[in-house]
Amino acid sequence: MEGCAIDSASAQSAQKPLTRPAPSARDAGAAPASAEVRRIPPGPEEAYRTAEDLLEFMRTHCERYGDIFRTSIYGSNVYVINSPQYLHHVLLGNWRNYARRGQAVKRIALSLGNGLISSNGQTWAKQRRLLQPAFTRPSVRALWDAFLRPTTALAERWKDAARRGASVDVTHDVSHAVLETTLRAIFGDDYERVAPHFSLIAEESRNLSFAQACAQLRSIIAQLAEERRERPRESRDILGMMMLGRDRDSGCPMSAAELACQGITLVIAGHETTASVLNWVWYLLSKHPQVEERLLAEIARLRSFDFESVAGLGYLQQVLEEALRTYPPLWLMTRRALESDYLGEYFVPAGTEIYLSPYLLQRHPRLWESPGSFIPDRFADGHSGEQHALATCPFGAGPRNCIGEFFARTEMQVHLALILKDLRLRFAEAEPAGFVADINLRSRDHFLMRPQMRACISVNPG
Ligand code: HEM
Repeated sequence: MEGCAIDSASAQSAQKPLTRPAPSARDAGAAPASAEVRRIPPGPEEAYRTAEDLLEFMRTHCERYGDIFRTSIYGSNVYVINSPQYLHHVLLGNWRNYARRGQAVKRIALSLGNGLISSNGQTWAKQRRLLQPAFTRPSVRALWDAFLRPTTALAERWKDAARRGASVDVTHDVSHAVLETTLRAIFGDDYERVAPHFSLIAEESRNLSFAQACAQLRSIIAQLAEERRERPRESRDILGMMMLGRDRDSGCPMSAAELACQGITLVIAGHETTASVLNWVWYLLSKHPQVEERLLAEIARLRSFDFESVAGLGYLQQVLEEALRTYPPLWLMTRRALESDYLGEYFVPAGTEIYLSPYLLQRHPRLWESPGSFIPDRFADGHSGEQHALATCPFGAGPRNCIGEFFARTEMQVHLALILKDLRLRFAEAEPAGFVADINLRSRDHFLMRPQMRACISVNPG
């Protein structure tokens, strides 16, 4: 069955396998010629059951019904979309009509309050304007030391393990190093004061006690902000940048409570995502030694280790791009239609939730050759010309894309370049590669690996 009229009884019984071609227009939002025909996408009769793996549920039905299907998830009417054109419409073309809502966002809001991730509408626009200056290129550049220090310390610990022939818990160590970078970037000179309170973030699962812990962390940030306001000093850290911001209408700065919501939002959004990618990169490099060798050759050509040089490592960027394609940490984005709309020929009633998965899109067999293979050369100059710009979207797209993208890319480049020049990691035991699609795409097990020293290549950090 192809899509059908919304009031047709047969709409509920789409049984036949179907693969629809994606709409050819860049933006799939054009309403059909006759507004009378309100077609809804095909989809399974049975609702999603909470015990099921949601990613697997979405994957199976995308395979069966094509790039759009309707279903019921957590009691809501959901359209799952899986083509660059549909994504373009929801995230760019008509983005104002699609608020960030859904179960995952509710869970996040419980812990983080009304920060940039969970807010919508005017509140979001105001917050985004106030936070944006902290994430420009010069602002990120000013945080260089926050990227360098934790990674240098981690490299030293792993070198020590290499000399002793010991193995290391890569997942654990990377998570802690990324947390330190995130906290140093946000809190600058106050890092030592706040760090002991935040260490649980690298360990805890996202349950109710985590939400309670986040409430305490918010009050620590609020207190810090108040202290800084009483005794002003120049701070180039992210909290300092946020405190400089003034609302364009009222001229007011963010209150301590608002700064606390944004601060905790940035810690959580910036930590697990980046840690997840780096964890997967170490796994992928151990499986692809020829990629690792090419990377090493590129790093060996560095004359100095500074912001500009690291940013110029083209093959390293390709490797990261391919890791983000195969294992995008935020595997699911959700939206809710505020008013009724059309996605291609399909009618979208107001209130419909839209689920879109970078994981499924970035492994879509129509868009990618050998989608499961790790091939960084896909992203070599001139090789991705045929692709729609949204065939990858690990950082989202449109006005609500990831505000920390440049920060995260810099952090990951520094981490890999600094460690790879001296070390390689190989699995100590059998290679566990399963993943869990929680809020982020995590490895099911921690990666236990053995660091091995390389013949040293001399570059000067600093
Ligand atoms: C590899 C690392 C990262 C990945 C893959 C990633 C991915 C994403 C994605 C896909 C979104 C959009 C979600 C949606 O549209 O529903 C997003 C939004 C966001 N990210 Fe990231 N992120 C990363 C790192 C960071 C970092 C380092 C920070 C801050 C320090 C950060 C802060 C945020 C915030 C605040 C938003 C909400 C933006 C808005 O709604 O205006 N992220 N991220």
